[in-house]
Amino acid sequence: MQRRKRVNNVSVGSGTVWLSWQHKVPHPYSRALPIHAKNRREWGPNNARSLTGIRDDDLYCSNCTTMFQSQPGKNLMSTVTQITQIQSPSSIATSVESFNWEAIHAELDAYGAAVIGPLLSPDQCKTLINQYDNEDLYRSRVVMARHGFGRGEYKYFAYPLPAMIAELRQSLYPHLMKIANGWNEAMGIDVRYPAEQEAFKARCHAAGQTKPTPLILKYGAGDYNCLHQDIYGEHVFPLQVAVLLSKPGQEFTGGEFTLSEQRPRMQSRVEVVPLGQGMGVIFPVHHRPVKGTRGTYRVKMRHGVSRVRSGQRFTMGVIFHDAQ
Ligand SMILES: [Fe+2]
Repeated sequence: MQRRKRVNNVSVGSGTVWLSWQHKVPHPYSRALPIHAKNRREWGPNNARSLTGIRDDDLYCSNCTTMFQSQPGKNLMSTVTQITQIQSPSSIATSVESFNWEAIHAELDAYGAAVIGPLLSPDQCKTLINQYDNEDLYRSRVVMARHGFGRGEYKYFAYPLPAMIAELRQSLYPHLMKIANGWNEAMGIDVRYPAEQEAFKARCHAAGQTKPTPLILKYGAGDYNCLHQDIYGEHVFPLQVAVLLSKPGQEFTGGEFTLSEQRPRMQSRVEVVPLGQGMGVIFPVHHRPVKGTRGTYRVKMRHGVSRVRSGQRFTMGVIFHDAQ
């Protein structure tokens, strides 16, 4: 049995009790942070009750979906044992399901970009920003100026991904997979993507693309990101998502997300995508089909960020293929 020490007890909202616990052993998902164990009763009667062995007084870690179960006859608050990891009822997955995917598909077909959201709440955005300096969460840091990529820096998350990013990756994928397969068909590309993100991840891993690619980017005043494509190997999932974590106008100015579309034998087109905090933009990784008068043709896409004029701008990127 692993014993944990309660470090604080905070009430959030009506009827919600949050309990923080300090693991005495490293937690697999959050070595440097206390675990937030949430009273399982808040889930309501239909959620997860059918899963084996879960009782009303068990605790649920909202960070990592770990269940903790009280020991019979002992004080619940001092003796809890991790019993299983389960999928929490997810507000992220629920909101992703609630989006009008037909309209998003039409927007992507017409303009090569679609705004969706909010994907993350202001608190979730703040959590990701506050964890920027927690090196345990990342596998590498890139200073853009050193590579000629622009100015600013970013960090790639390590596996296991933070729960909210893993959830975004998993819940967005099935919708984007349908669009991606349709686009490949339209462009005469034979590759098709499997229904589940895990199956596509396995395809990447079998080809030696095993490093996670979701990332967080930090820009200060004067920073920018040159137009580029995020390709990390042979296997490329053709759509990706960027989520703005900072509040535009308040925490930063400038720093617009920008897409360029290079059309064959034509001048390039630019799309600037204004985003609110927690909002996401879906866009192509490297190309997309465009319907012309003589059929469908392929255009080359790049994306970047214009110069941040003031403040700090954080974004989080969800890329669905892994890197070599
Ligand atoms: Fe990028």
